[in-house]
Formats: sequence, structure tokens, C-alpha cells
Amino acid sequence: MGAALRGDSDGTEPRRNRHEQSPSGHRGHHHRAGATVTVSISRRGAAALGGGGSILMRQRRDHARLDAMMNRWSDGGATDDERDVLWRDIVQLVFSHAFAEETVLWPVLRRVAPHGEELTGRVEAEHQAINDLIARVEKSPDDPRCAEWIQEAFALIRQDIRDEEDELLPRLRAAFGDRRLRSIGAAWEAVRATAPTRPHPGVPRRPPGNALRGVPLSVFDRLRDRVPGGGPAARRASLLACGAAAAAVAVVLAVRTARRPART
Ligand SMILES: [Fe+2]
Ligand SMILES: [Fe+2]
Repeated sequence: MGAALRGDSDGTEPRRNRHEQSPSGHRGHHHRAGATVTVSISRRGAAALGGGGSILMRQRRDHARLDAMMNRWSDGGATDDERDVLWRDIVQLVFSHAFAEETVLWPVLRRVAPHGEELTGRVEAEHQAINDLIARVEKSPDDPRCAEWIQEAFALIRQDIRDEEDELLPRLRAAFGDRRLRSIGAAWEAVRATAPTRPHPGVPRRPPGNALRGVPLSVFDRLRDRVPGGGPAARRASLLACGAAAAAVAVVLAVRTARRPART
């Protein structure tokens, strides 16, 4: 670990030239109006991020998984069957991950971070554009422009990851202690587990509209994901009812947990 990252062990902000960039292009420090200093969570160790269960480590793991799957998709080495599975896994992870961010994380960030409105507005716009592109691909899979739309969506997903790891998530680190980062992580995970897994460009990006319209859709998405052949109508109806109730309860509990005051 270089001198630039010293300070991680006690959770303090490392000192580094304000314009310095890491070799990978990650922004180490960023100054905005109000002189807020952030350090990318990609450059800090697990202990400095609140441990494996914290929201920051959970986000990093998902981002790394997404990156690996997009690389595998783009490297041309996968068979058609593998690509089908990869595509399904990428889409499921992208949308459940983003829905839980919009429901649990960004409302909290808007409360605790200066410029939270501007920062979260930017990633919400990225999520919307990703929704639009993937919905287009799923609607017209034989369109000759599909490969282009997919690459555009992948570029936006990578941009979203950079914005979150370099700009948004460090602000949660600054606002909360380790215990709260872990409880927010658990809340985010609970919502992600019941979130929509397919693109729904018409669903609002902010609560309560996203939960009101997204949670019922998540039940249909998950039915399509898990019981592709369908089942008897009665079984499907009871799955829908159980799923919707469980998802609604998870969202309410998770959002309540995440919205408790900062620094606890
Ligand atoms: Fe994320
Ligand atoms: Fe995101």
C-alpha cells in the first residue's frame, strides 16, 4: 500500500495531491463547491470500508461481478448458450442492484451529503438510459443495431460504477460509522432480493413511485426468471400474492432502517 493510501486503517481521509489520478483512471480526490474531499472506495481496504457486510463492500462485490460478466460477454469467447445465461445474469443483477440503490441508498445520500441532489440525479439519469437501452434490446433482439445498443449500455454501466465508487459511496463512508454502513448494507440487500430483475423504463427512479410501481412488477419478473414454463394458474396466483406481500414488507422495513439518523 503506497503512501497515498495511508490513513485507511483508522478510517481517516488519506492525503494526496488534489489532482492526482490512479493509473486505472479512478479519481482519487475530487473537490466540488463546498470543498468536500472524497477518496474512491475502490482504493480502500475492507476494514476502512466497514467490513464485508457494509454497503460499500457489497456494492464493490456486485460491481466487480458485473464488470467480469460484461468482459466475458465482450471477449467473444462464450458460446451462444453461455451468452444467453450471461445476458440473463447481467440484466438481473443490473436492475435489482439499481432498484435497491434508488430505494435505499440515494434517498439517504440526499439527506447527508452536500450536493446529494446533483450527484444522485446523475446516477439516476444513467440508470434510466441503461433501462431504455436494455428494454430496446429485449424488445427487438434481431435488430442489427442490438450489438451497438449493448455496448452503449455496458459503457453506461461502467460509468455508473465509476460515479458511485469515486463520488457517491465515499460520501456514505464520511457520513456513517461502520455499524450503520453494515445495517444500510443489510437493508439494501433485502430490497435487492425482492427487486425487479428486468428493465422497466416507465417506472419512476425515486421513492415512493419506484417502490409502488416496481415491487409488483418484480413479482412478475421473478416468475419469468424462475418458472419459465409457468405452472398451474392457482400456483402462479399464490406465488404472486406471496411474493408481492414479502417484497412490500422487505422494502418498508429496509427503507425504515436505512433512514435512521447519521453517525450511529
Ligand atoms: Fe452500484
Ligand atoms: Fe447504479
